[in-house]
Amino acid sequence: MQAAARLPAAMTPGPAPTSAVIRPRIGVFDSGVGGLSVLRALRAQLPDAQMHYVADSGHAPYGERSDRHVLTRSRRIAAHLFDQGAQVLVIACNTATAVAAAALRDAWPGHPIVGVEPGLKPALALTRNGRIGVMATSATLRSDKFRRLLDTHARGHSVLLQACPGLAAAIERGQLDDPRLLALIDRFTRPLREAGVDTVVLGCTHYPFVRDAIQAALGREVQVVDTADAVARHTVTRLLGVAAARTEAGPLAPSRIVLQTSGDVTLLQRIAARWLDFPTDVAALPPGV
Ligand code: DGL
Repeated sequence: MQAAARLPAAMTPGPAPTSAVIRPRIGVFDSGVGGLSVLRALRAQLPDAQMHYVADSGHAPYGERSDRHVLTRSRRIAAHLFDQGAQVLVIACNTATAVAAAALRDAWPGHPIVGVEPGLKPALALTRNGRIGVMATSATLRSDKFRRLLDTHARGHSVLLQACPGLAAAIERGQLDDPRLLALIDRFTRPLREAGVDTVVLGCTHYPFVRDAIQAALGREVQVVDTADAVARHTVTRLLGVAAARTEAGPLAPSRIVLQTSGDVTLLQRIAARWLDFPTDVAALPPGV
């Protein structure tokens, strides 16, 4: 378990009140509820941060849509989060990072933008037999960004790429013990088991919510790699450069975590209450976003 980060007041210009902490405003988005796995890790690292999360469940799954669709949605959501005061943007979606991170960084050069990518590097450090599996969406696996990651880090290694169509959509429905969901996990893990991989990367932020079922299907000896904590730690380092972060002194009111969705608000409320261990305000994404 990582210690939570309280950013030092000394990072703000001018004299800061003692006991002040910086309360950065972080915008986070995903195609749906998967990015809540990253939000959970961010919250553990940055308990004082104000966070605004957009679940684009009305336009999911990104992994089975065109790059154009993912790019358009990512641009619109990023604009909304920055308009609402986000200082830093976390793209809590491997697919949107692969397709849209470069375009978003070009469009908002003044804001740190943190993306997620399948954890190939940690998996290569962990594997004992040199055989690794990557479970991800089709869009992530076919992206140039992922191909470059493979070329740079995995040359000469045996990496089995397993696209998991339908898995993120099944997790979106929120019934994690649904036999149809478990059947998909069985189907997508079977080739990995047969190939004898000893390490499997969860290359989609939805999959950590069924990590136990994936682990059970793969067998206890297989190591499962998820990058949510690494992304949260990286976000902390990027925040050190945000000079405009607000400070507050003295006892802090609880930080606000706002969740908005382009899908079903009641479903997101139910999922957030079950999957997160902190309170959230859930609302509909405004029309036009
Ligand atoms: N959670 C997303 C990812 O990390 C994608 C899920 C989807 O919408 O296909 O890739």
